[in-house]
Amino acid sequence: MIFSRLCRAQFPARVLSQSSTIVLTKANMSTIPPPKILTEQPNIPDKQLFGPGPSNMPDEIRSSMNAPLLGHLHGEFTKIMDDVREGIKYLFQTNNRLTFAISGTGHAGMEVAVMNLLEPGESFLVVKNGIWGLRAANLGKRLSLDVHVLEVPEGQVATLDQFTAAVKEHKPKVVFICQGESSTGVAHPLEGYADVAHANGALLLVDTVASIGGAPFEQDKLGVDVVYTATQKVLNAPPGLAPISFSAKAEEKIRSRKTPVVSFYFDALELGNYWGCFDEPRRYHHTGMVSMVYSLRAALAAIAKEGVEKEIARHQENAIFFYKELQNAGFEPFVANKSIRLPCLTTVKVPEGVDWKIVADKLMAQKIEIAGGLGPTLGKIWRIGTFGVNSNQDKIKKVVAALKEATEQAKAKI
Ligand SMILES: Cc1ncc(COP(=O)(O)O)c(C=O)c1O
Repeated sequence: MIFSRLCRAQFPARVLSQSSTIVLTKANMSTIPPPKILTEQPNIPDKQLFGPGPSNMPDEIRSSMNAPLLGHLHGEFTKIMDDVREGIKYLFQTNNRLTFAISGTGHAGMEVAVMNLLEPGESFLVVKNGIWGLRAANLGKRLSLDVHVLEVPEGQVATLDQFTAAVKEHKPKVVFICQGESSTGVAHPLEGYADVAHANGALLLVDTVASIGGAPFEQDKLGVDVVYTATQKVLNAPPGLAPISFSAKAEEKIRSRKTPVVSFYFDALELGNYWGCFDEPRRYHHTGMVSMVYSLRAALAAIAKEGVEKEIARHQENAIFFYKELQNAGFEPFVANKSIRLPCLTTVKVPEGVDWKIVADKLMAQKIEIAGGLGPTLGKIWRIGTFGVNSNQDKIKKVVAALKEATEQAKAKI
């Protein structure tokens, strides 16, 4: 009744039929018609994801997202957030209270860390041995930081001596190291680096997006002040959340800022409140990614079930197996030094004269994804991720066989 009166008041008589239902005419129809494509089923093939991420998602993680939505401040959901915080602390091996998951991908982890830890004009030292150091330096410049780069050739790492010299020279407030450099397949060592940073008044920030759960990492033992990662690699969850943890010293640095963090969405203390990190009532900050948080809980539960140290050991063993299989198939590793190879992402030299893309496309036609190089390694290497459930010897054998066959076909064409 009220609706029909309202309609009569708002629409001319010609758009109302006698029964008061709205009749669509040219005048009141949307200009843009509904896209017909949306009436069709999308094409989502089941692929073997051996690129640098996302990786394949096991059924228990996929089905966790079918649970009904809860409100982002409902008690049942904040309990799940608390469980996730415990799981992240276990994953990073830390007791830090400011530990939570950002609504955003790995890049969001980098942005939250750099944006909160540093203020304009402060010295920021970046160890760059691939694309992720470059990205951190670029972010630092956008934030008007005093950025210094310790440049290391691709496929190598900064020695403790090189690192110490750079820290002493540039007197940074924060130093960035990417543990798992996914553009080259290098695992950067971390033992002793935090001690050098701390002795010189700096905090150590580590990117573990491509390494957590696949390479040894213990935040508290290593003395790492801030670590972030992402969900779509070893965790085998969908992309969309970035677990992060700040040490007490890092939290203190944020609390003593003279200027507010430029982003409200990425303000670590606001996020910490929403995630229940402090002894205070939670406030609405943003609408939490409810279903994604369910999936992260399921992913962390799977790691807790296997045991994080066992999970890392499995990646290490399977990486050795992978390198042997590659060698038997006639391929050469990109990272010469065995002790700095990233166990969950293997880089292989593209043989002379072979087009990496033709080979990768042949594999993709068989629903097997591998990736080419990134930035300076483009065209020179393939990057093959074996994250989480994909770190499996049967799967590795199949990938190597497919790579060998496709490369031989590509060579035959030359
Ligand atoms: C080491 C590293 N850091 C950061 C990122 C950025 O993560 P995302 O693509 O989830 O934003 C990636 C992505 O592959 C990565 O490998």
